[in-house]
Amino acid sequence: MMKKNIVLGVTGGIASYKAVTLTSQLIKAGYNVKVIMTENATQFVTPLTFQVMSRNTVYTDTFIEPNPEKIAHIEVADWADLMIIAPTTANTISKMATGIADNMLTSVYLATSAPVWVAPAMNVHMYQHPAIIRQINQLFEDGIRFIEPSEGILACGYVGKGRLEEPEKIVANIDGFFSKEQTLAGKNVLVTAGPTIEAIDPVRFLTNRSTGKMGFAIANEAASLGANVTLVTSVKNLAVDERIEVITIQSAEDMYKAVTQRSETMDIIIKAAAVADYTPDAYRPHKIKKSNDDKEAFHFIRTTDILKTLGQNKPQGQLLIGFAAESQDVEKNARLKLEDKNLDMVVANDISRQDTGFGVDTNQVTLITANDMKKLPLVTKEETALLIWKAIIALPLIEVK
Ligand SMILES: Cc1cc2nc3c(=O)[nH]c(=O)nc-3n(C[C@H](O)[C@H](O)[C@H](O)COP(=O)(O)O)c2cc1C
Repeated sequence: MMKKNIVLGVTGGIASYKAVTLTSQLIKAGYNVKVIMTENATQFVTPLTFQVMSRNTVYTDTFIEPNPEKIAHIEVADWADLMIIAPTTANTISKMATGIADNMLTSVYLATSAPVWVAPAMNVHMYQHPAIIRQINQLFEDGIRFIEPSEGILACGYVGKGRLEEPEKIVANIDGFFSKEQTLAGKNVLVTAGPTIEAIDPVRFLTNRSTGKMGFAIANEAASLGANVTLVTSVKNLAVDERIEVITIQSAEDMYKAVTQRSETMDIIIKAAAVADYTPDAYRPHKIKKSNDDKEAFHFIRTTDILKTLGQNKPQGQLLIGFAAESQDVEKNARLKLEDKNLDMVVANDISRQDTGFGVDTNQVTLITANDMKKLPLVTKEETALLIWKAIIALPLIEVK
């Protein structure tokens, strides 16, 4: 396999010494590494140390242009297969989120089309500051992947979240990223995610607590496994792999149309969206006014059951997977859904727990098929997505590479 090129950005945090170990481990793992340091990072570790470890020129200044035929920051940006900034200071996170490019690192960040990962490290109060939370959310929306800091005793003496993740774990993540097999290459996959939005009148709507995080994680994972992915969703603020075709919808009816128009050509359909079961009987074009004798201003009617429709019309060889968000008798209800809707697998989600289901970053699901039941561990939604795909790929019907 061709050696992959890693641009490692190092910023002025106390954890920059760990970036030396990271450089050395990346070289040992067989990567080409070019290090870019901010001026403040050079207060902590010398460029010479990184030069020796990476066996490459270290960049510290955008205006050092040794090759008249090339512009250094563009050349480095184009060279990268992956850019990782470790550690990333609060200051550099904020610059990246606002598009400030006043040094070599931030200029390369804006110029590269390679995936960018950020490994923050800072004092726990800095990490929890609303300004930094805002910037992290912005970067998340911009598609940046975060290597979350771990908890422990920080260099500043505080205990909490803010320690740079250990270099071994960062290298393991990078290895995982590059070694991913394209097991779903050539497969057409449709995923639905997030809530539906049922308009009542120009100011009111009916929706639910789903955020779409699980469905987006499933769609992103499918894209990184090589599938042609279509994502039908009302959610606009989550990072989505640029290879995915996103169809934006609002109501259950919109979702029904978007899904059924495309379902026939799909090899795998995963319905992770939380679709409204009921919708107002009619949309009121003007705001409904409060009146004393009008105790029931509107009525609801049933929406079309998308999953059931798909199950009834399932083409030969297609895999149909549904989610069951249940607050009681989780497995029993999920099994009923599997049979009633002619599904190949149900991902059962216990929404009565604090750490699983709606709005949180972790999930613990049970995968139920006609002959099997498997409880997955409590892990992040991204890890859950990977485990769900592993289970789908292991299903007898699917032929994969
Ligand atoms: C001893 C020392 C340790 C520091 N550690 C951190 C840190 O871990 N994280 C952080 O965000 N800033 C830290 N700072 C503050 C940054 O160095 C400062 O915000 C600087 O402007 C960052 O510049 P840069 O992002 O261009 O590297 C530290 C400063 C000092 C003096």
